[in-house]
Formats: sequence, structure tokens, C-alpha cells
Amino acid sequence: MSWESFTKNCFSFPEVSLDLDLSRLGLPEDYIDSMGNRFNEAFSAMDELEKGSIANPDENRMVGHYWLRDASLAPNEEIRNEIEATVARVKSFAASVHSGELQGAGGKFAHVLVIGIGGSALGPQFVAHALGSPSLDKACIHFFDNTDPDGMDLVLDGLKDKLGSTLAIVISKSGGTAETRNGMLEAQEAYRKSGLDFAKHAVAITGDGSKLDKVAEAEGWLERFPMWDWVGGRTSVLATVGLVPAALQGIDIDQLLSGARSMDRQTRVSKITDNPAALLALAWLYATNEKGEKDMVVLPYKDRFLLFSRYLQQLIMESLGKEFDLDGKTVNQGIAVYGNKGSTDQHAYVQQLREGVSNFFVTFIEVLKDRSSESIEVESGITSGDFLQGFLLGTREALSENSRPSITITTQEVSPTSVGQLIALYERAVGYYATLVNINAYHQPGVEAGKKAAGTAIEVCRKIAEKLAENESEFFSAPELAKAIGEPENAELVYKLANHMAANNKGGIQRSDDGLWHEAKFGIR
Ligand code: PA5
Repeated sequence: MSWESFTKNCFSFPEVSLDLDLSRLGLPEDYIDSMGNRFNEAFSAMDELEKGSIANPDENRMVGHYWLRDASLAPNEEIRNEIEATVARVKSFAASVHSGELQGAGGKFAHVLVIGIGGSALGPQFVAHALGSPSLDKACIHFFDNTDPDGMDLVLDGLKDKLGSTLAIVISKSGGTAETRNGMLEAQEAYRKSGLDFAKHAVAITGDGSKLDKVAEAEGWLERFPMWDWVGGRTSVLATVGLVPAALQGIDIDQLLSGARSMDRQTRVSKITDNPAALLALAWLYATNEKGEKDMVVLPYKDRFLLFSRYLQQLIMESLGKEFDLDGKTVNQGIAVYGNKGSTDQHAYVQQLREGVSNFFVTFIEVLKDRSSESIEVESGITSGDFLQGFLLGTREALSENSRPSITITTQEVSPTSVGQLIALYERAVGYYATLVNINAYHQPGVEAGKKAAGTAIEVCRKIAEKLAENESEFFSAPELAKAIGEPENAELVYKLANHMAANNKGGIQRSDDGLWHEAKFGIR
């Protein structure tokens, strides 16, 4: 990489302590200039969105996550006041927990169990992992982010004898997500078995009047925080969804918000080269040929950013992965995102990145500050942190040598401010990209379709249990059972469900194998 090319294509933003290096992407000389008009439209669309336009037409909703960190931008006084009052309420709630004014049956709340999924878990998990420290945290955070019974048992095992000092936070914007409802019921049962009143240890974060809201109100939970319909799940980390757990953990939420606010200012600038989110979106357009032709591999060289790629996977793939564009044309847009952390991944899949199929571009994330304490020398004059950076630079170079493109984002340190900045940077890059490829970034019809399909399986599961209970001692093959429950076209589904029921001895259901695997019969002896 020549010095000239590096300095021409690396952009520095001192106001947000961030550098964005596109020099290893192979951008044609005139590419940025050629995108000027299209970006002017994207800047205008973003401007309208921030002013409160219906930027999510399918759901007829405004898109207001940028107001969360600067309430003065909210389109009306009601929203402005609500944001400000809610942030104040989050802080005073956390203060009363930290002071012990609000306690569980087992004393001060030293643990927090967050129950949520998707946008109601990934952001809080990223923030908790990036900014937590076992010896400094005011509360230790745990998550139920699935409906896996064994996964929940594992978390509860870590909270054994501690539930009396554990505050459960149930997070669901819709208040009706099955995984979260199940997590809540499993947690309630665990508290009950420990002789504890769940309601006196529980907080809800949800939409006003949702099922969850009604349960929390009827049972008299400790607190209910709002989730507004103008904040999408995957952009809710700086709403109550992320702020409540972070504040309870002891993270400075003012700095998180001000970090995001500073990045918002920087990414509102309507000149591509002065706007890191515009540059990032432009880089994605170029790298993926505007059609997601290449995957985005996110490689932060920082353990604390391990969950950043997971968080971005949802933010980017749920926002950009769309079948139709805004005009109803089939486009099958999206960018696949994966990654963990460097240098660890160099000992895993980076081999393929360098030598295998060339279907990706890498985003390296470099953090300049190694640690808060002094470093020892692991070799003469060299620290572990020098090695970490050496591996990043070496991998970047090795990829470039083989014509594998990469972007490098450099930030000063891991802090609430920089985490807020990175969140805001990607949120807006996603927004620009979506406008430029003409899709709605703020709905998720595919997620809803998955929820519906699971509902069908649960219904069939119920029918199988009933049929076998009515016909005790009779054993059915999957096609026979499917026919008997009025689902003749669903023999495969019936087989999968009955097999799972038998493995768990649900209602006494057993599997009997006398012939080939698919001739197995199911029944109750
Ligand atoms: O980003 C989204 O909208 C989704 O991933 C949701 O966050 C997820 O489905 C959970 O929904 P809810 O918060 O309503 O339980």
C-alpha cells in the first residue's frame, strides 16, 4: 500500500476519535465523486426520517432511534418529554437498586437476569460484554435469550441460591414473543420453587398495553419501562432496552448516549468524505456490487468486542435482508455478516479468507489503547498488545496481497463513549445503505413469517399428544399419525415432532423401532 494511496483513502474524524481506512478496498479513483447525487438523496431521506416522516411505510411508523440521544430533535414535545423523563427514571431506578433502597427478598440486587431475544437481547449483551468488569460492576448480568430449556437451566445453575438478590428484567417490545414469554414463565417457576415472589423481583420493558405490560401491571411488578413503537427492536440498544440493564450494571449511560450523539452529529454531515457512516455505506455498496455479492466479515481485534459482530449480524441482516424493494420489485437484498475476534480467528477461518473462495470483505476493528494498566514485556520491548496489533496489520497485509479487500476502523479505546459511537455509526450506515438500494430497513417480515411457522408446529404437537392419549397402547407410524390428526400432507412434520416428544417422554409417548428408521411408530404404552 503506497503512502499516497493510504492517505488519500483513509479518513480521519478527530471529533469522534475514529479513522476509517478504505485504502484496501480498491475503490476506483472517481468512485466517491460519482456517488455524489445518489448520496444527496440519501442525506435528504435521512433528514426527513429524523424529522419524523413515516420512514417505515409497511408498519406505518416513524423511525426515531436518533431522538433517543438527542431528545431536542424529536418531532413533538410529547415524545421529547417522554424520552427525557424515561432516561431520568432509568437512572433513579438504578440508583435505588444500587443504594439498596429497592431490594429483593435475599437483600441487595447483586444480579440481573435479562430475559429477551433478538433486538431485545443482542444490544444489551454487546454492551454488557464490552463494558463490564467483574470487580467493578454494580450487578452481574445474565441472559435468557432463547427458549432452550437446558440453556435456561445453565443460567439458573449459576444463580443457585441467589435468586433472592436477582432482579429479572423481561424485555419485549411487542410483549408477545414466545421465547421471551417462555423465559419469563421458566424464571417465575424458578423463583416460586425458591419460595420467592417473582413480582417483587421483576421489571418489564415493553410497549404500552402489550400482553407483557398487562401481566406486569396485574401482578404488581417493581417497575414497567416503556418501549416505543417508533424504535425498532434492533435499534433499541440506546432505548430502555439497553439503558436499563446497562445502568443496573453500573455503566455510565450518559456517556453511551453522548457518544452516540457525537457520532450522530458527525454522520449527519451532507458531504460523503466528511461523514463516516456515508463512507461506510459507500464501501458496502462497492464491495458487494450493491447486491450483497460479498459477505461482511467483522474482525475486531479486541476481546471486549467479541459480541459486536453478533450484534451487527442482526442490525445489518435483519435491516437489509429484504425480498422486495420499496416499489415492490423482487430484489433479494442483504449482506451476510459473520465474525468473532482477532487474532483468535486467525487460528480458525482466516486461512480460507486468505486462500479460499473470495466471497467476502473484511472489516477490521482496531482499538489503539491496549489496557488500563501497565503492560509487561513479552519479548524485549514488546507487549501482548503490540502482538495483537501486529497480527491485525499482518493479516490485513496478507489479505491485500491476495486481493482480498478490507476496511479498517480505528478507535481510541473501549469506553461507553466509543461503544455509543460505534452503535450510532453502524445504525446510520445501515440507514443510508437501505435508502441507496431502495429498501425498507425498518420492518422484518421474515421474522414474523418464522414466528407463524413455529405456531403451526406447536398446534400439530398438541394434536399428536391428544390423539395418542385418546388411543393408548396403539402405535402409529408418522404417515398414519399425520392422517389420524387430519394433517396427511404433514407426515415429515409429524415425524419430527413425535420423535422429539418421545425423546422427552412427553405424556408418556414412546418410539418403537422394528424396521427402517422411517417406519418407527409412536404411541403410549
Ligand atoms: O429487531 C427486531 O424487531 C426483532 O429482532 C425483535 O427485536 C425480536 O423479534 C424480539 O421482539 P420483541 O422485543 O417484540 O420481543
